[in-house]
Amino acid sequence: MDEKAWESLKLAAEQARSHAYAPYSNFSVGAALRGASGAVFVGCNVENASYGATLCAERAAMAAAVAAGEREFVALAIVSGAPKPTPPCGICRQCLFELGPSVPIRSFSGTDHAEYDLAELLPDAFDAAQLD
Ligand code: THU
Repeated sequence: MDEKAWESLKLAAEQARSHAYAPYSNFSVGAALRGASGAVFVGCNVENASYGATLCAERAAMAAAVAAGEREFVALAIVSGAPKPTPPCGICRQCLFELGPSVPIRSFSGTDHAEYDLAELLPDAFDAAQLD
């Protein structure tokens, strides 16, 4: 993906972040996932008084994509308000691995960004092959 495409994906994630429901952590996150069709699906974190029921932005974006029939992903942008770019959490790594094991991931914070490789973030992942 070129820089212009990353910029527009970042903007979509930023917009989604503005809808985050994070009254407990005050840590708002937005994510935007571009599918192979070119369509973009967004998500934000949705917290819950029962903290463990919280949904992360990345998984919300992935669920939106799958619900729309998109199962192939070409890029994921994450935006948080942290001073430094934040990587996806462990649960999101596992979920992303299911359908996008090699999806390029960029996390943005202000003008800074970091790029992550899911295979490095989640080595020796548990996947469908292990259920055989
Ligand atoms: N969060 C995400 O949305 N994505 C991540 O990858 C890390 C954590 C959310 C969950 C919770 O609402 C808040 O950030 C603090 O953990």
